[in-house]
Amino acid sequence: MTSIRRDAVVAADGPVVALRFEHGALWAIDQTALPWRETELELRRAADVASAIERLSIRGAPLIGVAAAYGVALELAHDPEGLERATAILRGARPTAVNLAHAVDRVGAAVRRAAPGEAATAALAEAHALHADEAAASAELARHGADYLGSGAARRVLTHCNTGALAAPGRGTALAVIAELAQRSQLELVIAAETRPLLQGARLTVYELRRLGIEHELVVDGAAAGLIAAGEVDAVVVGCDRVAANGDVANKVGTYSHALAAVAAGIPFVVAGPTSTIDPGCPSGTAIAIEQRAADEVSRVRSGAAGETYELTLPGTRCRNPAFDVTPASLVTALVSEHGVVEPAAGDSVLSLLG
Ligand code: MRU
Repeated sequence: MTSIRRDAVVAADGPVVALRFEHGALWAIDQTALPWRETELELRRAADVASAIERLSIRGAPLIGVAAAYGVALELAHDPEGLERATAILRGARPTAVNLAHAVDRVGAAVRRAAPGEAATAALAEAHALHADEAAASAELARHGADYLGSGAARRVLTHCNTGALAAPGRGTALAVIAELAQRSQLELVIAAETRPLLQGARLTVYELRRLGIEHELVVDGAAAGLIAAGEVDAVVVGCDRVAANGDVANKVGTYSHALAAVAAGIPFVVAGPTSTIDPGCPSGTAIAIEQRAADEVSRVRSGAAGETYELTLPGTRCRNPAFDVTPASLVTALVSEHGVVEPAAGDSVLSLLG
């Protein structure tokens, strides 16, 4: 894998493009280096893509699905018989986001339908099709979400983790809804929760909001509930990594606390995600595998252009690092998808979005 240093674009304007397939390779912005520098990774094998996903250089549920789809295509270009191996490597990269499994299954099905000798071509065509579908879904869900929230005058929105163009093709998921509200002049302020331990809110959401010129403030995760209770937030809008058949939602750890605070304060808790994030085979949140990440992500913080790390606690402290939590459907005011909006807390079925 090659890492190419490009001109810093931290001061650049406009939406960011997280992934592109060009000259037989997948080029991905290394999100671990943001916001201090923009570095593009050149990925040429399934194992390169899997390791970029594992270390969160590529992250966000829809984006890892699209990257994995290209990963299968890259592997088949080297070895037309490599489908099973590529699928196994990529599926194992991260467990919680169902988009990853959906994507490799979709590409696998296209390969099995392909004429002899056409495996790699068919895989690449399917990966491009998935990429385009997810970008189109982002545009549609942004419109539905802004219609839903705009009518409720949600001018101050709190969000968690990063759900913009760095997390999903197009404009993203929750951040796409937020950007659409801003474009309609229906948004006053985004409150971004920093998202410990890896700071996707502080590093990535702030980076995207700055580029988009959207008014924002950064808060520590623990400040969110108090601000919500004090009436300083009109709606909480977040993304999702897997939605179970009963409407329970897995998303970045810390999401559940925001949901509890939102419901206690009587403001909407809105989840935005494409239908590729709904898992009809998963009955409820208890069946969702929650990724457990390394302890040193909790005990240390990485910062700055050179990626220096700092110890936050005493050596040897036992740390637990669940990367996601589950919010029960009863707290989810609305689930916004490219096919429209359902209200799980009011008893709507999320499966109706699958058509
Ligand atoms: O661990 P990450 O950064 O991949 O977690 C991402 C999230 O939790 C997002 O909220 C989710 O993937 C939806 S993004 C469009």
